[in-house]
Amino acid sequence: MATVHPDPVPGLVITVTGEDLDLRGNGIARWQNWVIVVPFLLPGEVARVQLQQRKRSQWFARRTESLLPATDSRRPPCILANDCGGCTLQHLEDASQESWKHRQLQKSLLKIGGLDRPIDPLITSQGTPLGYRNRALIPLHRDTEGKLRMGYYRRGSHRIVNLNQCPVLDPRLDALLEPIKRDLQDAGWPADADLHSGDGLRHLGLRLGVRSGDILLTLISSTDQLEGLRTLAQQWCERWPQVKGVTLNLQPQRNNRVLGDSTQVLCGDGQIEERFAGVSLLLGTTTFFQVNTLQAEAAVQRLCSWLTERAGPTSVIDAYCGIGTIALPLAKQGHSVLGLELHQASVDQARLNAARNHLETATFQAGDVKAHLADALPQHQALVVDPPRKGLDPDVIAQILACPPQWMAYLSCDPATLSRDLKQLTQVEGPYDVEALHPVDFFPQTTHLECLTLLSRR
Ligand SMILES: C[S@@+](CC[C@H](N)C(=O)[O-])C[C@H]1O[C@@H](n2cnc3c(N)ncnc32)[C@H](O)[C@@H]1O
Repeated sequence: MATVHPDPVPGLVITVTGEDLDLRGNGIARWQNWVIVVPFLLPGEVARVQLQQRKRSQWFARRTESLLPATDSRRPPCILANDCGGCTLQHLEDASQESWKHRQLQKSLLKIGGLDRPIDPLITSQGTPLGYRNRALIPLHRDTEGKLRMGYYRRGSHRIVNLNQCPVLDPRLDALLEPIKRDLQDAGWPADADLHSGDGLRHLGLRLGVRSGDILLTLISSTDQLEGLRTLAQQWCERWPQVKGVTLNLQPQRNNRVLGDSTQVLCGDGQIEERFAGVSLLLGTTTFFQVNTLQAEAAVQRLCSWLTERAGPTSVIDAYCGIGTIALPLAKQGHSVLGLELHQASVDQARLNAARNHLETATFQAGDVKAHLADALPQHQALVVDPPRKGLDPDVIAQILACPPQWMAYLSCDPATLSRDLKQLTQVEGPYDVEALHPVDFFPQTTHLECLTLLSRR
């Protein structure tokens, strides 16, 4: 006799088996013809879950009882992992996180990009699945009783999960969290990352040069009217010799941008050094730099050696170049490189970094890639792109297809947009063959994945 299932309604408790994870790290299961989304459910786990809310063909549910845990589940290394929205996969063993990421990329390439080809093994985090982040921007809030809360937002909310430690942060930064929080508590300044309760502190910024050991601290505030600010900055520089500078970044706008346009040095230097892929880079308060130095270096070194093997010293455009993280190691290997970048402060920094390393063959142009690429392409043999998550603009793709350089490397932080763009660059009339797809684990304990794709013209 066929089983009669009750109609799904909020409150109904059912038994499901986890099949997969979504991009927020939630478990995905199926029941009748519904997709059931359950926080913390792992693939292979059998659990009783209570339906909560329906969105189109999905039901969101809460786990009430785990009947059979997944064999690769674990106690999260961070005691706040179940609340804090910073990490999403801490409850899954590292090796299983890695194999899920690899499968996820494969699926995305096939489903979105129509690419059915083997991908290289994941470049794993080389024994540092924790303690890898060289930077943090942490929201602050002083509650009505005057207690300072510091931490990332709870999943799906703007409520701060108060922390004193963060195990994915490099231990040299992690060790400063608690004493800095205590000092900010004692300073008594108002704090509200969202500015709902008026002007004051918004975020604490910490940045480390992993190789130099230098640290830059930043207070991000809507106002510079904070009594005793410079004195506290001075104390931090004196107390911790590794703190080379403390800056104040002003972000007075009521929006969700973390960093504003204006930065003042309160004490010491406004920049710290990082040694990266054979070059010395200066990093400031607002400039972009990959948060995982060792993994970024593995990707950039792979890119540099591939291009040098294939093309010898050649002419390269590094589009979306930031402070020259890829352009300068390429120049160091004898390539002549034109970097294109929107953010003027990053371009200034890239030029300073080129001069600092005596790399005259690296030049930089400020502006939108789509405004400059078409003019530059005919004079270059190779193109590197490292765009933000949204991937390549259709105009940029059109310009590449109109004048494709012999070699192309695409460093992506979003498998979906990478797959979409590769479809155009490689399929049917696309000019490129994929030589290699290297997924690189830049962000252990989260679902995020970086991928380096190496392409050559047919
Ligand atoms: C993912 S980061 C990569 C930076 C650099 N390649 C690195 O690894 O440090 C993307 C960079 O693209 C820049 N950017 C974003 N949109 C842009 C555009 N339309 N034209 C030029 N640069 C852009 C951002 O300012 C940022 O520096």
